[in-house]
Amino acid sequence: MKKIRSPLFYVGDKYKLMPQLSNLFPNNINTFYDVFAGGGSASINTFAKKHELNDLDQKIIELHLFLQKETQNLNVFLDKMYEIIKFYGLSHSEIKINSKINELKKEFKKTYFSKYNKEFYIKLREDYNENKNRNDLLYLLLIYGFNHMIRFNSQDKFNLPVGNVDWNKNVTSSLKNYSRWVNKSNISMFNLDFESFVNTRNPVKNDFFYFDPPYLISFSDYNKLWNEKEEFRLYSLLDDLNERGIKWGLSNMVQHKGQQNNILLEWAKKYNEYSIKSNYISRFDNSIKKNSIEVYITNFNGEKLIKEN
Ligand SMILES: C[S@@+](CC[C@H](N)C(=O)[O-])C[C@H]1O[C@@H](n2cnc3c(N)ncnc32)[C@H](O)[C@@H]1O
Repeated sequence: MKKIRSPLFYVGDKYKLMPQLSNLFPNNINTFYDVFAGGGSASINTFAKKHELNDLDQKIIELHLFLQKETQNLNVFLDKMYEIIKFYGLSHSEIKINSKINELKKEFKKTYFSKYNKEFYIKLREDYNENKNRNDLLYLLLIYGFNHMIRFNSQDKFNLPVGNVDWNKNVTSSLKNYSRWVNKSNISMFNLDFESFVNTRNPVKNDFFYFDPPYLISFSDYNKLWNEKEEFRLYSLLDDLNERGIKWGLSNMVQHKGQQNNILLEWAKKYNEYSIKSNYISRFDNSIKKNSIEVYITNFNGEKLIKEN
């Protein structure tokens, strides 16, 4: 199966794991509920009659809605974005790598784009912070920012530094794929806590809930508000769905950098657990690759639902 990357290039993005996960999802999904949608890779790579994507992060939902509207007319959108890139003087390697970048490349082998873009990026960031309804600028900040992340400080100012990345051909091709997905799908977006989202759905036969929560034992910006209490709240919701005969799947990590999620290991015994091969690498710590065990847990094994706990 060809995997498609979301144009949000989200941290913790599931796109590389989707060929394995898709094999474990039910066939003929009616509504696919992507409860912790993030960049939306699970939805983009799953065929369903309807997609409902939810995330607690308001900005990520805003960006999805922005891209869903703009990519309906992709060429017009691309032209607009290319104009803004030109206006700020940012590099645009999809079109051209200029001589100054080539010079910087010799001296700064791993940081030449960030050296080139730093000042232009800061101007872009200032302009966005002055005008927060400019989602076009926010999307560019994501493309040119450190690790493609979105981060705001306590004063609600976007505060991520420039990254060693720019608008290359992968950005355009991911937007093309996203646009195709949007145009052929029936999509709804929600900005709710996971429990409220799930409890306000009215699932019918062949609906499927996919959960990709922050992992208790790993670190990223969106893990800040996740803790053992949240973990238990999630498991009790999953038990409840199971008792109601509703199909779900959960991605998670049982081992990471010497830590083990014992709450998960204990709870998961009553369900089906599959190990997922991951080639997750952190740019800071290659050891993560060897120390992490990713799993997929489901109350559905292709034939039947587990209805009793
Ligand atoms: C592992 S990421 C999901 C990645 C996603 N599957 C992808 O492929 O891009 C977890 C997501 O959960 C969201 N989140 C954290 N706490 C939440 C909550 N209480 N309710 C709903 N979403 C939450 C975070 O904002 C983050 O986007």
